[in-house]
Amino acid sequence: MLKKKKTYVVAVVGATGAVGNEMIKTLEARKFPVKKLRLFASERSKGKMLKYRDSEIPVEIPKQDSFKGIDIALFSAGAERSRIWAPIAAGSGCVVVDNSSQWRMDPEVPLVVPEVNPHDLKWHKGIIANPNCSTIQMVVVLKPIHDAARIKRVVVTTFQAVSGTGQKAIDELMQQTKDLLNFREVACNVYPYQIAFNVLPHIDKFLENGYTKEEMKMVNETKKIIGDDSIRVTATTVRVPVFRCHSESLNIETEKKITPNEVRAVLSGAQGVIVYDAPEKNIYPIPIDVAGKEETYVGRIREDETIDNGINMWIVADNLLKGAALNAVQIAEKLIEMA
Ligand SMILES: NC(=O)c1ccc[n+]([C@@H]2O[C@H](COP(=O)([O-])OP(=O)(O)OC[C@H]3O[C@@H](n4cnc5c(N)ncnc54)[C@H](OP(=O)(O)O)[C@@H]3O)[C@@H](O)[C@H]2O)c1
Repeated sequence: MLKKKKTYVVAVVGATGAVGNEMIKTLEARKFPVKKLRLFASERSKGKMLKYRDSEIPVEIPKQDSFKGIDIALFSAGAERSRIWAPIAAGSGCVVVDNSSQWRMDPEVPLVVPEVNPHDLKWHKGIIANPNCSTIQMVVVLKPIHDAARIKRVVVTTFQAVSGTGQKAIDELMQQTKDLLNFREVACNVYPYQIAFNVLPHIDKFLENGYTKEEMKMVNETKKIIGDDSIRVTATTVRVPVFRCHSESLNIETEKKITPNEVRAVLSGAQGVIVYDAPEKNIYPIPIDVAGKEETYVGRIREDETIDNGINMWIVADNLLKGAALNAVQIAEKLIEMA
């Protein structure tokens, strides 16, 4: 458990990556009570200095005794690194908030979105998992609707930005776009096909059931976070040539009838959600507007006229913020509140 202190020694593991970079900025923007910031990455980043507040901080390579004296470590260096280093960090007495998929479905590890299940932080044993980016933005919207009308089933299709794959994918979309506009051949290193001016119905590995791992993360993580195994979720996850922000089309079937206006009212009062829905004025959330924002934006709220109790909507959130760095920092803030 985290001890109450005025300021904390904080580490970011994976500090040079797409999420790590946002973690550093988020700690600074939210005035997190940082006594000292330690930054870790791979051998490749040896010698690099990263900016935090007015100082330049050297990037370190994690070692067995690196985590001694660190209070909170935010991990975003991939599942394999989390498998190895998170238990070592937790064993050194530091609380780990892990962004990778490594610990999410471990029954001993809470999977937390602070607006939805902050109570689960009480039973952590040193590691807390941050959910998948597409799951986080979906559950902040589903939970208040579930409380109001009990959700039976969700059909979700995602439109996910390349930054969800990390820095190399951001660079690949940029490079392919430049090459295509200059009539040059494109190289595909990150995705199996060209992503510029294209759409790929494929995120993460394919599983035996025909779904991808990303799709099954949305199914399983939703049940664990909301704490209700009866919610049925079916997902299709799609990569689109957008740099930042995941969009999702949600079809929600509820037990109790709930009208679009009631959904608007429920979501207007929900933490971390902004209803942005006036189609007559072309008002609906889009990635370029939501990039850099902390909340999940909801629009296109309308009735599914093909079933008795159905609602359709369109949600957009910044995958690097609410989908990753911000949610992790909010978890750390809650831990301090509860200390
Ligand atoms: N991007 C998202 O929207 C998102 C959302 C939720 C969760 N996540 C998860 O967050 C993690 C990082 O994602 P990302 O998008 O930031 O990836 P990324 O841009 O590829 O960054 C990966 C980071 O991990 C570091 N790293 C790699 N190998 C390492 C090692 N052996 N020891 C220490 N550090 C090492 C890299 O350091 P170098 O620069 O030195 O290689 C870099 O800082 C992944 O587990 C991902 O699934 C990402």
